[in-house]
Amino acid sequence: MARLTAGIATSHVPAIGAAFDQGRTQDEYWKPVFDAYDWVRAFEEAEEPDVVILCYNDHASAMMLDVVPTFALGMAEEFEVADEGWGKRPVPTVIGDPVLAAHLAEQLVIDEFDLTLMNALEVDHGCTVPLSLMFGQVDAWPVRVIPLAVNVTQFPTPSAERCWRLGEALGDAVRSYPANLNVQIWGTGGMSHQLQGERAGLINPEFDNAFLDKLTADPIALSKITRLEFLREAGTEGIELIMWLIMRGALGDKAEELYRFYHVPASNTAVGHIVLRPAG
Ligand code: DHB
Ligand code: FE
Repeated sequence: MARLTAGIATSHVPAIGAAFDQGRTQDEYWKPVFDAYDWVRAFEEAEEPDVVILCYNDHASAMMLDVVPTFALGMAEEFEVADEGWGKRPVPTVIGDPVLAAHLAEQLVIDEFDLTLMNALEVDHGCTVPLSLMFGQVDAWPVRVIPLAVNVTQFPTPSAERCWRLGEALGDAVRSYPANLNVQIWGTGGMSHQLQGERAGLINPEFDNAFLDKLTADPIALSKITRLEFLREAGTEGIELIMWLIMRGALGDKAEELYRFYHVPASNTAVGHIVLRPAG
């Protein structure tokens, strides 16, 4: 059967992608950020996952206001890199796993999560920046990827609790897949940041560090955080942290923290990164 072997979360700041693509990873500003991902790159080389379920959000790159799916699962053979206004990032096309994606879709709809199924989807920095951080510069990504795009840009956004339960259902769906696959689940976005309005630039290290602590110790408490609380404590874009709860929900009751990193700021964002292993 398929095994869910790790959960990884990271911020997905687009400027990290630009610094990476322009060879500025050892600049004074960027070095502490990129060096902090050496650990997970070695981890991924040792773990050799077959598939990553990558929970992220699209930033009006592939999905504008004409269609606003709450949860959109990538079913395609491949996902082209979106042009976000400065040309496509020079990174490999993301290769999917349509057979596993079909299984996930079936199980999740049976579990009453009425997903939007994306047979075509371009993926933006929410997906490609984490891939660069985990795998570095490569000619082809060493994993197949099933993107799961969550609406966090237009109200109404799904609740943290709904995301937690979706994660639980996703974990069950993976573990019921009859193929010997090493599957990871990632959540991207966050941590605290606000890109516009009077509070633009807001960062809340206290909130972020408590979130990192509770992700292992008391994730149910995090699933009770309301939209308003995310907005107030973590800024308008802090809601991206709900993708981390899908990841955590999939790992089951207990998880072990293997690695953690927190850094302020990168671009406008508090960068957080954590690697978890399901326990028991
Ligand atoms: C920034 C962070 C994000 O998560 C994003 O999607 C866009 C911009 C930033 O820090 O600039
Ligand atoms: Fe974002």
